[in-house]
Amino acid sequence: MKKFNVAVIGAGDMGTNHVRGWRNAGHNVVSITDYDLERARKLAENNDYPKIYSDYKEAINDSDVDIVSICLPLVFHAPVTIYAAERGKHVFCEKPLASTPEDAARMEEAVNKAGVQFGIGFQRNFAKGVAAAKQWAEEGKFGKPLVFNSDLMQEVRPKIAMHDNKGNKGPIMDACCHYFFMWQTVFQSKPKRVYARGGIIAKDRPEIAHFQELAIDTGLITVEYESGDIGSMNVSWGLAKHTKLPSNRDRVYGPKGGAVGGFNNFGSDIHIDLYIGDKHEKVVFEKEDLFETEFRVFAKAIEERKKAPVGFKQGKEMLQLTYAIFESIKTGKVIELYSEVAK
Ligand SMILES: NC(=O)c1ccc[n+]([C@@H]2O[C@H](COP(=O)([O-])OP(=O)(O)OC[C@H]3O[C@@H](n4cnc5c(N)ncnc54)[C@H](O)[C@@H]3O)[C@@H](O)[C@H]2O)c1
Repeated sequence: MKKFNVAVIGAGDMGTNHVRGWRNAGHNVVSITDYDLERARKLAENNDYPKIYSDYKEAINDSDVDIVSICLPLVFHAPVTIYAAERGKHVFCEKPLASTPEDAARMEEAVNKAGVQFGIGFQRNFAKGVAAAKQWAEEGKFGKPLVFNSDLMQEVRPKIAMHDNKGNKGPIMDACCHYFFMWQTVFQSKPKRVYARGGIIAKDRPEIAHFQELAIDTGLITVEYESGDIGSMNVSWGLAKHTKLPSNRDRVYGPKGGAVGGFNNFGSDIHIDLYIGDKHEKVVFEKEDLFETEFRVFAKAIEERKKAPVGFKQGKEMLQLTYAIFESIKTGKVIELYSEVAK
């Protein structure tokens, strides 16, 4: 296996996961960048002292670097990807792909022109629970059509930029893409139409009131797939402080049976309850580092000169669905999706 040199850009939560994941996957983290240099320094100290930078351009221009691993807020995904690609570096970027479809198109053009690889951080879809649900659905264990319910309830995010409509754009953009990708993987189908209602239930919270445009923090989303299967999501990041209203576990079911569990979750207790007729089985999965898994897959694609399996295609599909949901919330209408748009 070739050992790649990786520049991790952003030393926050995802930066920490990327440094660990790349190292566990057997690659060298040669630098860590954050404009909060103290953060970069701390992460470097715990990881054999790679170089530290505050300016991503300096990190990318280091001739040692093969892969740029982007762990920055959403607005920086496009400029940093384009800058890295233009300098001949492979790019691995955190999800969501980009703030707008136009940014996504510019990123893809730069990557294609440079002939470098691009991968996106949907590590949760590598979870064994997703593969199991896909296999059970394929075998017809649950019958057809399928319904997938997902749920995500949290209080106002401590990272308040998550609530900025000009920043990370709220949970429907930032978090739901993991669930949408899981649904289409299990259904093996593409979204056809969507209906959603939503709003900002935390608009009076003082810590976020200063944003010019608050992002939608709460939504009820129904997506119909070409296969006739349905995904539904209940999401809120608008709960009052210290309110620990639990999220329901994911649930997939059909006319013959169903399953409940954190299919794409990498918490400590990873199990799925399977219910078929009067039978109940508890299926337990081993804990794994999904960042390590996704980086192994990406590095293999570079080495074998094959297109990375998760990249622009999936990133654009999730972005298209997210924008359709925003449109449905705004207009109150059902929005039709055209899968040929998300090639
Ligand atoms: N794959 C996942 O499961 C997952 C989970 C959470 C977040 N994310 C995504 O990862 C990205 C980063 O999120 P996070 O939770 O790590 O955020 P974070 O706030 O914890 O970290 C971001 C870091 O980037 C630094 N930074 C911001 N702009 C910079 C710039 N221009 N130059 C240098 N440093 C800069 C900040 O100082 C901060 O340390 C987001 O796109 C988010 O949506 C993915």
